[in-house]
Order: sequence, then structure tokens, then C-alpha cells
Amino acid sequence: MEFAIRPRIHDYDTFAAFEQAHAVGSRDLILTQRFLHETFFSQTQAQTLFYDDYCDGEPTDKAVDAMLTEVRSRDFDRLIAIGGGSILDCAKVLALDSDDTVASLFAPDVQPGRKVELFLSPTTCGTGCEVTCVSVFDFPEVGSKIGKGFNAGFADHAVLIDEFLSNIPYPVFARSSADALVHALEIYLAPGASVYTDMFCLAATRSILQGYVRIAGLGPGVIQEDAKAYLAASNMAGIALANVLAGGVHAIAMHFGSEHHVPHGEATRLFLPPVFKTYYSKAPTGKIADIAQLIEEILGPCGSGQTPFEALDVLLSKVVPTRRLSEYGMNMGDADRYADKVIETQQRLLVNNYTPLSKADIVQIYSQLM
Ligand SMILES: [Fe+2]
Repeated sequence: MEFAIRPRIHDYDTFAAFEQAHAVGSRDLILTQRFLHETFFSQTQAQTLFYDDYCDGEPTDKAVDAMLTEVRSRDFDRLIAIGGGSILDCAKVLALDSDDTVASLFAPDVQPGRKVELFLSPTTCGTGCEVTCVSVFDFPEVGSKIGKGFNAGFADHAVLIDEFLSNIPYPVFARSSADALVHALEIYLAPGASVYTDMFCLAATRSILQGYVRIAGLGPGVIQEDAKAYLAASNMAGIALANVLAGGVHAIAMHFGSEHHVPHGEATRLFLPPVFKTYYSKAPTGKIADIAQLIEEILGPCGSGQTPFEALDVLLSKVVPTRRLSEYGMNMGDADRYADKVIETQQRLLVNNYTPLSKADIVQIYSQLM
């Protein structure tokens, strides 16, 4: 067993407090989106690179190649990424000391060092990727999103800034926090989990579920009151994710997200209930019983004939509403081919399943959501 928390974690109320504490200036390059720059730090003296000039949505390998070309022409000492998971994932690769393309960097055994100091500051509360070394990009020619961990992808500093959640659109909040919940739940059940990842996963799960119960009862207005708790929960789930990979929910979601251009957190939220119901029906007395107990503790006792994971599904449908797979354009006739593709491209994640998921299980999971 090995467990590490690599970046230093900082917590500031505002960007101004962060900027002052770290003397951010003209030798720094901020990778971000235009609307974040305009909203929170338009006065900064730092150089800027806008993700939206290269990418509309989640990053493809070719879009990151174009960013690499630009970044390699710039002169700067520190790279500061401020944004959602896609932007932070790009920054991990942009900070590498390499002249390779993304496709070459993703080849097995390629592990360049780092060229500049790296700061990652999330503006959503989900991926936790400010504390992981993994970058996930869409490779349209392969037909799937693919993730790779770079040893030099761990940032020097993970910076949590409450202010960045102050005007987060509700759908972005919902799908990003749901992704953090999926990280915590999947890693708690993963074969490689330890007492240390368990601690972070349970704390994150408790915090997010308590927040969701508050939203279901009081409305989305309570999100701002709970901003620190959500940022910390997604960060804790990210700490677990930096040590143990996620499993089947992510495996199925990665392929579906690529096939139908669905944001990562929306895709993982989609597949959380059916995968966990499948796990619970196959092996209800293992570690999943701890999660079932925690769900009942926070949501209240289940109704007759209802499992805790069905109760969780009901809560999720209120707080993080989603659509049927058919509404994304999937037909039941696609299920066989999709399951094959998941098994072919996502073994890295499937090995972390709580119980093995057969092709028939994966097809059944699709059918539950059609
Ligand atoms: Fe995720």
C-alpha cells in the first residue's frame, strides 16, 4: 500500500488574496476561459492564454497540440491554470518539458519531466484533478476519451478559491459535484482502496450527500453557503483518485461521453445508479454495505422494497437531473457494440471494479437507462 498527497493545498476566499500571497505577475502564464478572466481577474498583470480560443467543450488531442505550439513560443516561469477539469488537464500537459505531440506523449512509457512550476485552481467542484496527475483527452480518431497519468503532472500547488463558485451555473455545479461523488464511491469500493483512501472517500461522500439533501429540501440557493464544503469534498475525492483509479462507472461513461459528446460529470452521473445497483445485487455484503448504511444515515431509512441505491437514484434525479440514453441519440441496437468498445478501451478502469462487470452486465446497464 502506498498513499500520497502531492501538491500543497491552499485555500483562499478570493483571487486577489491568492494573487497577493504568491506575487502573481508578468512572468506567470494563466490558462483560463475568457469569462473567468473577465469576471474574476481582468486586472491581473499575468500573461493569459484562453482555452476557448482552442476548444469548444472538452479537449481533443489536436486542440491540445495547438495549445502546446503556442505555449512553447511563450516565455514564462509559472503556469497557473484556472478553470474546470478540462483546463486543468490541459495545463498538466502544457507544463511538461517536451516537444512531442499529445499522441506521442500518450504512448506507453513516455514520461517527460516538468518545465515550469504548476498551479491548478478549480472553478467547479468535481473532478478533483487539481490533485491528480491524470489528463483525459478525446481522441476522435480512436473513438474514445483516453486518460494518462504523467509523473510530472502533479501540480506544485492546488489552490481552492471560494470566490470561483460564486456564480457557477447550476448544471455545471450539479454535474461536477456528482462526478466528485462518483470518485468517492468508486474508489471506496476499488480493490486497491486503503484505510487512507477510505477516510477521504467517506468524508467526501457524506459531505456531498448532506449538501444534496439540503438542495432537495431548500433549493439551489444553499450551494453558496456550502461552497467551502463542496470544494473540500471534491478535493478529498481527488486525493483518493490520485492514489487509486476510478472503476466501471467511469469506464462506461468515458466511452459514452466520447460517442455522444456528453460532459464528463454528466456521463458519470448517468451511469452511477445502474452500476451501483448491479454491484449491490451481486455482492451486497461486502464494502458496499458501508455505503448503503451511510446513504440511509443521511437520506433516512429506505421505503419498503427500496434499496439504498434506489433511494440515491431518486435523490440524484431531483438534484442532478439527467436524460434517457435514447435522448442522447443512443439506440438499444448500439449496446452490444458500445459494451465491446468499453471492454476494449477502458481496461485501465475496469480492473478497479467492485465486482467484475461482464459484457452482459454492461448491456443491461445501458438498457436500464434507455
Ligand atoms: Fe470523474
